[in-house]
Amino acid sequence: MTPSRSVRIFDTTLRDGEQSPGASMNLTEKMEIAQALVALGVDVIEAGFPIASPGDFESVRDIAAAVSGATVCGLARCSDADIDRAWEALRHARQPRIHVFLATSSIHREFKLRMNEEEVLARAVAGVTRARNHCDDIEFSPEDAARTEIDFLCRVVEAVIAAGATTVNIPDTVGYATPSQMHHVIKSLRDRVPNIDRAVISVHCHDDLGLAVANSLAAVEAGAGQVECTINGIGERAGNCSLEEVVMALKTRGDYYGVDTRIVTQKLVPTSRLVANVTGIQVPRNKAIVGRNAFAHEAGIHQDGMLKERRTYEIMRPEDVGLERTDLVLGKHSGRAALADRAKALGYQLTVEQLQTVFERFKLLADRKKEIYDGDIAALCEQQFAALPEQFTFEGYTVTSASGAAPTVTLRVLQNGVPQTVTITAGDGPIDGIFLAIEKLTGVTTVCRDFRVQAVTVGKDAQAEVTVELEHAGQQQRGRGVSTDSLEAAAKAFLAAVNRLALGGTPRLHPQTG
Ligand code: KIV
Ligand code: ZN
Repeated sequence: MTPSRSVRIFDTTLRDGEQSPGASMNLTEKMEIAQALVALGVDVIEAGFPIASPGDFESVRDIAAAVSGATVCGLARCSDADIDRAWEALRHARQPRIHVFLATSSIHREFKLRMNEEEVLARAVAGVTRARNHCDDIEFSPEDAARTEIDFLCRVVEAVIAAGATTVNIPDTVGYATPSQMHHVIKSLRDRVPNIDRAVISVHCHDDLGLAVANSLAAVEAGAGQVECTINGIGERAGNCSLEEVVMALKTRGDYYGVDTRIVTQKLVPTSRLVANVTGIQVPRNKAIVGRNAFAHEAGIHQDGMLKERRTYEIMRPEDVGLERTDLVLGKHSGRAALADRAKALGYQLTVEQLQTVFERFKLLADRKKEIYDGDIAALCEQQFAALPEQFTFEGYTVTSASGAAPTVTLRVLQNGVPQTVTITAGDGPIDGIFLAIEKLTGVTTVCRDFRVQAVTVGKDAQAEVTVELEHAGQQQRGRGVSTDSLEAAAKAFLAAVNRLALGGTPRLHPQTG
């Protein structure tokens, strides 16, 4: 079936996605993700909430100036200061968009805004009018639209379109909607708002009931022309509609939806890996499309069917989402060209210098590990991209430990290039002892909110990947470390998070609760 219309993909990984606890990213990381989103083919990149902090402003401004091939959008509450600040950040974008929002549901009107319907309506129109004085591409979101009385929602939508909004986004802010309700809301807007054809209807669903993708698809079926989503579905609380899932549902079931998107689906897995590694929020194995098991066929009966005809158990081809079928790739004798080839296939564009560093690390790894898998190569490449200015660099450790006794740890780090050593006897075991030694040496005391270890690939000699989430002075940061030695991986992860905490940061405003 030939698609009858195209649906725009609005990615909010850098704004709503970054609102997930511990997912904050620095400018270099945001820029890298923005470039990956352009390559992926998204139509709109929501780069941030410029008034939140000077750092947020700078990242929206720099992304706006750097990106070509996608609209760059900045979020603003319905106030002059927010809207003007958003415009200041966006003004050098080739295709700028200001996204203004104001809550409309009765519960938000009464308890958050303390405004009546007429006041909300007037504020929404004033916000859109001000934004429209800055640029032509204006999106308006009635926050908590899914819990807004439909008559009032229709009035607000009509008024903001009349004031110049070119996209009206319908958020299910708290993930309360169901698919048939979402369908009904979008259909009602199309049937009842007289000027609706002057704007694109968008949808923005949260996943509190696990329905974000289903609700977004129902909205598309009812005529929505834009879907807001994030890579890996990251976002506030349970997250947002997952970009890879909604895009592959529209593509795989093109026979049913009759729509297409501009997404280069072969880049979905590399982009998912990039976001997981930058944010430290790992993808569950069984996650649709990009999870490690998404295309694994272990049950014998499935394998038998697959060998006869892959379509018996496979509705999508792994290569269509950027997953290679063969996982085992290189060994000790593989050369630089083979490594560069694999890195490229995995979605990493390495400069000559980066390739040289990755190759040196590859050789070291090949001495410790017989077989090098795609996951190992991805981990080596990511160390290149994740490189941040580090105050503390891991050098080495020695541990003496026995069950039931506190370990003795000697830790060696470079602090701004100067060797530092500390020795302590403390902790419940070697990992705890290493963490305490790092805290003593750096002077940063933390609360550990999350600690995970997993194997990057398979086999007894697999590299361990450790992620930690630490809290210090009201700030949360994640860190990741990879090594064939799991204690070393833990030390690196802890130090990476401490380095981020040590960089500090100015307080940021949260758009919806700030
Ligand atoms: O969930 C929500 O309502 C939002 C708005 C700011 C669009 O993120
Ligand atoms: Zn949201």
